[in-house]
Amino acid sequence: MKIISLVGARPQFIKEALVGEVARNMQAWEHVLVHSGQHYDVNMSDVFFQELGIPEPKYHLGVGSGLHGSMTASALTAMENVLIEERADALLVYGDTNTTLAGALAAAKLGIPIIHVEAGIRMEPKTMPEEINRVLTDRISSVMCCCSTLAVENLLKEGLTQGVYLTGDVMYDLFLRFKHLFESRETITNLGLEPGRFIIATLHRDYNVDKQESLHECLHGLTCLAEETNHKVLLPLHPRTRKNIEKFNLQTVARTLNLINPIGYIDLMALVQTAAFVITDSGGLQKEAYYAKKRCVVIMPDTGWRELTDCGWNILVEPSAKAIVQGGIEALASGHTPENIYGDGKAAERIVQIVLEDLA
Ligand code: UD1
Repeated sequence: MKIISLVGARPQFIKEALVGEVARNMQAWEHVLVHSGQHYDVNMSDVFFQELGIPEPKYHLGVGSGLHGSMTASALTAMENVLIEERADALLVYGDTNTTLAGALAAAKLGIPIIHVEAGIRMEPKTMPEEINRVLTDRISSVMCCCSTLAVENLLKEGLTQGVYLTGDVMYDLFLRFKHLFESRETITNLGLEPGRFIIATLHRDYNVDKQESLHECLHGLTCLAEETNHKVLLPLHPRTRKNIEKFNLQTVARTLNLINPIGYIDLMALVQTAAFVITDSGGLQKEAYYAKKRCVVIMPDTGWRELTDCGWNILVEPSAKAIVQGGIEALASGHTPENIYGDGKAAERIVQIVLEDLA
């Protein structure tokens, strides 16, 4: 059996690292890796391949940045050719990016089964690009691998009952695999930070960073939080956020924050492990904070990881300076870390086994 695995953006490289490795080690199928090129900067892409040991993709589609429709369309066209040329038996896609949906559509049109890893996540607003991508991808997938029981329930509610599996989260597998490296990494010392006395923040969602008012509020909130709690705020800047800070002339608002370029997985996890807590609008980082037993302030209207907010561990806030400061102060208080929500660290093996059985 030959399976094409499609990646394109940072969170997908992280998920592919282990699923691809397990598939190769078990000689489960011929695993052909394709990179759409949605993320292309060295520190948005190459660094993940190098440090996570992901082999060079066989195809690079060179999609790059653009409007959502054109990005999806070029990845779709290019993927159709790859799927035909490779005579693929199935397509493996991860998460909710434009790359995910493009690949899934190309496969569906060719009648090729789709395996969706991180299926069943649902959140508001329904118009969010990632929500559109994940809902449509699930709709046309044959095998849906879910991180949590909530994700399984979401699919069942939509009438998706066939091919739905609870596997756990491959990001947890990866966290456990590389944990020893986070602990020995000298990232903190190199950045001049004191363990426990800084907050790690990331911002990249369109609704937070594409509008001047909300980006201003987020940066102002982080600045006030740093002053009020006497913690440094470290903000590795996604290129979209960096461009918008310049476009809206917000450099002064951000001047007391520690701004750095995007960083790789191991450095980011090393920082999360030693930070006081995390503030983010990233889906993956909300869970990774929990794996590192850190609380997390989530600047989003909703989250796909409600297990973490419903129990009060993660705190959902709107993009206002006041809410960010309040959320940050709350996150400084210790809480009871919920246990074993996203599996046992063996999700990748389970996924490979399920695919072998389901597609046999
Ligand atoms: C995408 C995913 C999101 C995921 C995120 C992880 C979609 C709709 N969203 O969002 O689910 O959480 O990746 O980071 O697919 N850019 C660069 N260099 C790069 C990549 C991007 O400069 O290597 C800039 C470009 O200006 C681009 C912008 O960042 O237009 C946004 O990139 P894009 O891939 O469209 O979306 P993300 O915000 O990264």
